[in-house]
Amino acid sequence: MKSSKLVVANHKMNMTSIDINQYLKKIKKEINVENVIICPTSIYIPYFLKHNFKVGIQNVFYENKGAYTGEISPRQAKSMEIDYAIVGHSERRNYFLETNQEINKKVRLCLKNNLKVILCIGETKEEKRNRKTEEVLEKEIIENLEGVKNFKDIIIAYEPIWAIGSKKTPTMKEIDISIRFIKQIMRKHYHVDNIQVIYGGSVSEENVQEIATIPTLDGVLVGGASIKEEFINIAKTILKADKNEQNSTNIPKTR
Ligand code: PGA
Repeated sequence: MKSSKLVVANHKMNMTSIDINQYLKKIKKEINVENVIICPTSIYIPYFLKHNFKVGIQNVFYENKGAYTGEISPRQAKSMEIDYAIVGHSERRNYFLETNQEINKKVRLCLKNNLKVILCIGETKEEKRNRKTEEVLEKEIIENLEGVKNFKDIIIAYEPIWAIGSKKTPTMKEIDISIRFIKQIMRKHYHVDNIQVIYGGSVSEENVQEIATIPTLDGVLVGGASIKEEFINIAKTILKADKNEQNSTNIPKTR
């Protein structure tokens, strides 16, 4: 069955409460809340829930409760009607030194608490240069998903680290090849053939038309551009591409 496309906004540590109110005024009438997931800085999550947006948390801890100052658990997130969690974002891996094993614990605890996981994986510039992209993707998938039995609540975000916030992206063909590879790995190791794989890394108003044509793409994860007005156009372009595909199911796409 054809999965419908997703648009995820990762606000990271941006905007103040004043900015959020202005942002909400701009986007709330324009955005189809069905297929858009907003991941604000955690303290602003209630603003988005109030306006019926689907909300994701940018990070969770790998225990459900305890003396972990500053952390938020999957159980706490779920109790706030948050449905999604970004896990393993490269900024968490790089700045907070999260390991594949910690990410795996987070993934498993999210699933246990009925939080859908947006698992971020991707290669560095050097790994790409050394043609190690597929090796890195496979290793991250295997280590991050160890012990997972049910994959229906997993979304994989292919995010080449060098493309994040750099205004650079792989070619559309390269994105397609990596997404295809991720789907193939999911089939090979877990017999899953309907995993949703989205792309993240410098998605913008300028490149979204082209990104939307990637045949294997199930959606996008937008960072920097998601806090700007251009996010509305990005979301509309991706969701429109989905509609067009559903209206022409048997027509093969050209690349
Ligand atoms: P970017 O961020 O769109 O600013 O490159 C994407 C991400 O970090 O998920």
